[in-house]
Amino acid sequence: MSGHEVDLDGGERATFRPSGALRGSLVPPADKSISHRAAIIGAIAEGPTVVTNYLDSDDTRSTLSAVAGLGAMVNPEPLNAMPEEFTIEGVGPTGPRSLGRIDVGNAGTLMRLLPGWLAGCDGGLWRMDGDASIRRRPVDRISVPLGLMGAQIEVTEERFPPIKIDGRVLKGIEYELPVASAQVKSCLLLAGLRAEGPTTVIEPIATRDHTEVMLEAAGARIERGEGRVTVWPSENLSLERVEVPADISSAAFFLVAASIVPGSEVVIDRTGVNPTRTGIVDILRRMGADIEVEPLDDGAGEPIARITVRSAPLTGTRVEGAEIPLAIDELPIVALAACFAEGETIIADAEELKAKESDRIAVVVDALSGFGAEIEAREDGMRIVGTGGLRGGSVDSHGDHRIAMLGAIAGIASREGVVVDGMDAAAVSYPTFQQDLGRLLG
Ligand code: S3P
Repeated sequence: MSGHEVDLDGGERATFRPSGALRGSLVPPADKSISHRAAIIGAIAEGPTVVTNYLDSDDTRSTLSAVAGLGAMVNPEPLNAMPEEFTIEGVGPTGPRSLGRIDVGNAGTLMRLLPGWLAGCDGGLWRMDGDASIRRRPVDRISVPLGLMGAQIEVTEERFPPIKIDGRVLKGIEYELPVASAQVKSCLLLAGLRAEGPTTVIEPIATRDHTEVMLEAAGARIERGEGRVTVWPSENLSLERVEVPADISSAAFFLVAASIVPGSEVVIDRTGVNPTRTGIVDILRRMGADIEVEPLDDGAGEPIARITVRSAPLTGTRVEGAEIPLAIDELPIVALAACFAEGETIIADAEELKAKESDRIAVVVDALSGFGAEIEAREDGMRIVGTGGLRGGSVDSHGDHRIAMLGAIAGIASREGVVVDGMDAAAVSYPTFQQDLGRLLG
């Protein structure tokens, strides 16, 4: 790899040296959000769902194991490698066939979506728990509205996992989300499938809509209006087929890398460009990035595109309000782009960053200031003054996949390189990240 080496120490520590341009094409790994939903909705549905290009990552394996443990048959079973295509035979209206403990690993999406289904399965009793990072992630945001539906859920210290779910018959409610969260919206929509009467979720700010798209494809009765979505009880879902597009959140690392490393040109193919996920493209373009998006086909309601990105000088911007949920997972890498831009970048209205796999305000500010950035934390985001580059240094991923990959991209774009401790965290969403990066660096 010209200008770039990766030194692995027990798979945990990697060094990313300053590199030349990124060139070539790639298809990023499959979308994590859509993969979780394919497994869960496939398990709820009746009959087989054929799933193509399911994400092979730690998080999405946790979801597949969880639904298999609940009685959904996955065939062929994923062993060392995820099959390119497999079938999930859902449990249908009779509901889950087993009770007991569910280990979600590091998967916050699994922790927040699955209870929506289980809470309405009368007679079931489950305990969900995960790793140390999961135990710091709030779940009262789902237990409170599920409680209003009549669910019996116990959470720890009124806020955190582990959670105990005692399934019972639920009733539909109308609920306005106090935080913009696709996970909470999805949880309530899944609960609504088995509730008495309609369930309406009001979202003052739009969040990713993959659950609505997939439930519609499965034949659920869903009505979507401005800022609200209603689901009616639907016992007989049939999903048939899901082709998972590549993940724009994984692509984001290369959108930024190619923008900030001079001479780069990268084609990112077959990537999901659902408008509730493309905030990163709009933000980078506003900063002056050279990004072309060429629409391809529309896989079951989820649009796909070929994205070409070439390096370009960037300028600072403001990211706030309704744009935050559309780029929530990409804000760390936006902060890195801002270090290479000219002028000030403000990220505001993004307190939610504190509740992600790590406190992404504190951890990003710490990491980037350690690399020489002019950056300060704010209660609801951060302020960065771009200096056109970064010195480099070292960072601990804190077990957060997006921080590990941020460190890697910072390293190749920096003057002195970056050592990432805990690089293995990337496997949560992007196990082949280092290979793909190495290939683009030639
Ligand atoms: C996700 C929604 C977002 C996002 C997470 C995945 C989803 O979380 O940060 O990585 O798949 O629904 P919130 O909805 O809690 O903001």
